[in-house]
Amino acid sequence: MADSPFRVGAIGCGARGRSLLRRAAATGGVEITALYDPDRPAALRARREHAPAAAVVDGIEQVVSRDDVDLVIVGSPDHAHREPAVAAFEHGKHVFCEKPLATTVDDCRAIWSAAQAAGRELIVGFVLRYAPFYRGIKERLDRGDLGRIMSIEANENLPYAQGAFFRRDWRRFRRFTGTYLLEKCCHDLDILCWFAGSLPRRVASFGGRSFFTPRSGAPLYCRDCDLDCAHRLELDPLPPKPEAEPELTRGRHLDLCCFNSAQDIVDHQVAIIEFANGIRATFHSNQNAGRPSRRMYLVGERGCIEGDLYWGSFQYAPVRYTGDWEGTPWERTEVVRAGQHGGGDGLQFGDCLRRLRDGRPVLAGGREGLIACVTALGIDKALSSGAVVDLDETWAAYGLSGAPETTPAR
Ligand SMILES: NC(=O)c1ccc[n+]([C@@H]2O[C@H](COP(=O)([O-])OP(=O)(O)OC[C@H]3O[C@@H](n4cnc5c(N)ncnc54)[C@H](O)[C@@H]3O)[C@@H](O)[C@H]2O)c1
Repeated sequence: MADSPFRVGAIGCGARGRSLLRRAAATGGVEITALYDPDRPAALRARREHAPAAAVVDGIEQVVSRDDVDLVIVGSPDHAHREPAVAAFEHGKHVFCEKPLATTVDDCRAIWSAAQAAGRELIVGFVLRYAPFYRGIKERLDRGDLGRIMSIEANENLPYAQGAFFRRDWRRFRRFTGTYLLEKCCHDLDILCWFAGSLPRRVASFGGRSFFTPRSGAPLYCRDCDLDCAHRLELDPLPPKPEAEPELTRGRHLDLCCFNSAQDIVDHQVAIIEFANGIRATFHSNQNAGRPSRRMYLVGERGCIEGDLYWGSFQYAPVRYTGDWEGTPWERTEVVRAGQHGGGDGLQFGDCLRRLRDGRPVLAGGREGLIACVTALGIDKALSSGAVVDLDETWAAYGLSGAPETTPAR
């Protein structure tokens, strides 16, 4: 096995699927053998760009049943992860499933159970766990630099162009994503749980849509609009305008107006989380930021860490009883962040492959995918109900407890 090539098939060859295939093609000892996308041009493009020898096939079964596939990449939209992932496990394959693992807790559980029944590895696309920024912080936490953590402040604010992109894509509908928080911020919730080393026990949330709201006078397509708008999308070549507004779970993006397109997701949200081990955290996300941020401020008994993925650094200050708190020097750590997601994109695929070859567990699998999903949907239940939501019964129902989760940074 160590010397034989690792054969990869892909289901869903859109932007992310192709990005993963690019990583796979660049990883030594990997052959990409089969590609499927209901939008056939997407699969043909993936073959042209990354896998000239791969077969382009006409269905999920035709990928997962092949003898020359060891690992199936699932890169379909969020609501369409369960079917290919479960089918792949039923055929004894390993699965790399993009995040979020699924859009419902039951679908997550079904995928994870299928992996366990098959005795195969389930990898979830939580690339942030690989970003040197988060790994560096985790190593300091594991080293005890903060002592017991008391509270955490975190955010993910999207640059305005990405907020607009969400409103031109399938991501604008909860039926394809579960919720905005699950689709976009499951990464960040996974990191919070990883750093807290515990499961969220109680959550509360407020949020809504107050910016990407209908604009009178704006047409449905940017090409027909003469308003002065920072969110205008100009496409070259311009695809034909469909008669009715499409849902776009496949095929090209359009220059849909990000204000007037049909949509049912929030554009900003705040949440409070209390973990079973007593750590309290806040989380804030807004989709119309002038510049992106993924910031964390962790406060512990012995010191604090503050950083932003986009700064490329974090800083640590110990608690010292000098009285000169304004002059306390920060100890700054610069991190490499070449590439997407703070550099995590370039590191995850290769690491997972090495772990599969060595039989070591991956950093983020079914358990982590399920925990992030329960957490996000619990927060969104709190948002829609206006109540504090207790998650203990859910953890018990899915066989998880509030015991610390201890996966180290490496
Ligand atoms: N890990 C990350 O950081 C990260 C980043 C971006 C996207 N993603 C995830 O990757 C997945 C794909 O996102 P994307 O940005 O590539 O979207 P995309 O729209 O660019 O691509 C999705 C592809 O799936 C195909 N598809 C649609 N329905 C399908 C079905 N039922 N079965 C198989 N394929 C189907 C579409 O034709 C399209 O080519 C999503 O789950 C998304 O959340 C993860």
